[in-house]
Amino acid sequence: MIEARGVCLKYPNGTMALKNIELTIEPGELVYITGPSGSGKTSLLKLFMGVEFPTAGSLNVLGHHISKGQASGIRSLRRMIGPVFQDFRLIKGRTALENVMLGMRFLDTTPGLIRENARHALEKVGLEQKMLSLVEHMSWGECQRVAIARAVAREPALIIADEPTGNLDKDNAVNILELLKSFGDANRAVIITTHATHLIEGERHARHIRINNGTISQE
Ligand SMILES: Nc1ncnc2c1ncn2[C@@H]1O[C@H](COP(=O)(O)OP(=O)(O)O)[C@@H](O)[C@H]1O
Ligand SMILES: [Mg+2]
Repeated sequence: MIEARGVCLKYPNGTMALKNIELTIEPGELVYITGPSGSGKTSLLKLFMGVEFPTAGSLNVLGHHISKGQASGIRSLRRMIGPVFQDFRLIKGRTALENVMLGMRFLDTTPGLIRENARHALEKVGLEQKMLSLVEHMSWGECQRVAIARAVAREPALIIADEPTGNLDKDNAVNILELLKSFGDANRAVIITTHATHLIEGERHARHIRINNGTISQE
């Protein structure tokens, strides 16, 4: 579902954020990407979502060739991905339920089904009591769960979470990873970046890719 061959990303200011990335990710995989701050984790996720484009090499995600000038292909690709951004990107002035439903507005389904699936996703992340709360009245951890519900509600083929363990203590970090993992299945891959390597050591059934200074240093 992801195939990267010799992928490089050089930002306009000259920063070489990623160098010669070779990577294949299959459906059903759980993949952790770790590496120090500035190593290129977020940049790699941006390539997977078609937010940035390789400046060398070739990248295919869910059957879409990621390159400039593929705008309509990239739009349909993004509908197949459930992203959990580091800063959540929820819409203020809207309830948790509305935020999740807004994340599904491009789907080819009825408003009734959108509402039903959104409610179901919020139940799965443990927010059944908070569906009608405005997001600005919710705690950081609750907002994170809204963001996860929004990502999974569209039944994406690929779930991508950038540093979901960010400012969480160990117990909560483990809980969030468990929650994200629970949405993986045979047809779906889950990719999680984290710099908290200690949380995922000894984790079975997961792939661990270490990235350093823009290159995959260990797998
Ligand atoms: N939009 C950008 N323009 C220029 N350089 C960037 C941009 N975004 C990230 N970088 C640089 O690319 C490198 C990788 O950053 P990033 O992918 O955010 O790393 P990480 O997520 O692992 O902390 C860093 O040197 C960072 O400063
Ligand atoms: Mg980052």
